[in-house]
Amino acid sequence: MTRKELHQISETIAKLRAHFVSTERYTTIEEQFHLLLQKRRADIKAGRTTEARCIALIGGSGSGKTTAIERLCRLNAQSRKRSKTNTHEVVSLRVPSPATLKFVGQTILRSLGYDLRTDRQAWYIWDLVRFHARERGVLFLHLDEAQDLSARGTERERQAVVNMLKSLMQDPAWPVGFILSGTHELKGILNFDAQLGRRVYPIQLEPLDALNDGDDVRGLVQAYCRKSVLAAADTLSSADFTARLAHAAANEFGLVIELIIAAIEEALIAKQTQLTPRMFVDAFRRRSGCIDGLNPFLIEDFERIDPRAILSRLEVL
Ligand SMILES: Nc1ncnc2c1ncn2[C@@H]1O[C@H](COP(=O)(O)OP(=O)(O)OP(=O)(O)O)[C@@H](O)[C@H]1O
Ligand SMILES: [Mg+2]
Repeated sequence: MTRKELHQISETIAKLRAHFVSTERYTTIEEQFHLLLQKRRADIKAGRTTEARCIALIGGSGSGKTTAIERLCRLNAQSRKRSKTNTHEVVSLRVPSPATLKFVGQTILRSLGYDLRTDRQAWYIWDLVRFHARERGVLFLHLDEAQDLSARGTERERQAVVNMLKSLMQDPAWPVGFILSGTHELKGILNFDAQLGRRVYPIQLEPLDALNDGDDVRGLVQAYCRKSVLAAADTLSSADFTARLAHAAANEFGLVIELIIAAIEEALIAKQTQLTPRMFVDAFRRRSGCIDGLNPFLIEDFERIDPRAILSRLEVL
C-alpha cells in the first residue's frame, strides 16, 4: 500500500470519527440543556436570581456521554461566536483525581482560564471560582467523569465537594448550573445527597437492547457504509449479526460506532469495496488482541463472552 493510499484511508477514518449521529436521546439532552439555558438568560436579563439547576447524564462507558456534551458545548460556542458574544456560557472539565475540595476547585479555576500558582486554602480557591465564573459569564460547568467525585476520599470530603457545588448553584449573585456526566456510580452521589438530587434532571443513556434496537444497529452499519462508499453485505442485516455487533460493543451505542469504523478501516486496508462480517472479526481481533475462541463475531455461543473484560485493556473502554 502506498503512502498516498494510507493517507487517504486515515482521512476517511478521521472524517467518520468526526461525524456525530444525532439520536432521540441526544435531542432530550439538548432540549433540557436549552430549557435551563433560556431560563438563566431570561433571569439575567430581568435582573432576577433564582438558583441554578443541574443535568446529570448517566450511562455506561462508551455510551457517548462525553461526545454528546462536547457537541452541545461546541454548538453553543459557535452560536455565541455568530452572535459576536465573547463569553463562554458552558465550560467543560474532567473531575480530577483525587477529587478533594481543593483540587476540584483548582481544576475548575484553571478551566475558567485562571491558573493559580501559589498554594491557597480551599475557601479562597472557591471564592475565586465564583468570581471568575461571574466575570466570564459562565452559566454552566460541565464536570465529566463526575462519578470520580466519590472515587476516593472520605465521606466528609465528598460531602464538602457536594456542598460546594450546591452553594455555587444557589449563589445569590451568580448561580452556576452543572452538567454532570458519568457512569452509573454517579447515581450514588445524587442519591447520597437529597438536596443535590432534588435539583438534578437525570438523563440516562440506556444500553442497547439487541432485540428492540436491532433496527438502529442495522441503520448505523448502513449509514457508515454509505459515508465510506462501501457496499454493505446482506449478512450485515441479519438479526444474528446485529446481535453479535451489539454484544461485542457491550451494548453501548458509542462502542457500536467505534467497531463499525474499525471494520471499515479493515475493509479499506484490504482494498475491499464491500463491508462483510469478516472485517468485524478482524477489527475485533486487532483491537482486543484476543484469540479467535473469544471473538464474538466468530464463536457460536458469543453471548458467554464478556466484551468489557476483553476490551478493558484498551484505551477505548
Ligand atoms: N452520537 C455519536 N455519534 C458518533 N460517534 C459517537 C457518538 N457517541 C459516541 N460516539 C463514539 O463512541 C465512542 C465512545 O464515546 P464517548 O467517549 O463519548 O463515551 P463515554 O460515555 O464518554 O465513555 P466513558 O464513560 O468511557 O468516558 C467515541 O469514540 C465516540 O466518537
Ligand atoms: Mg467520557
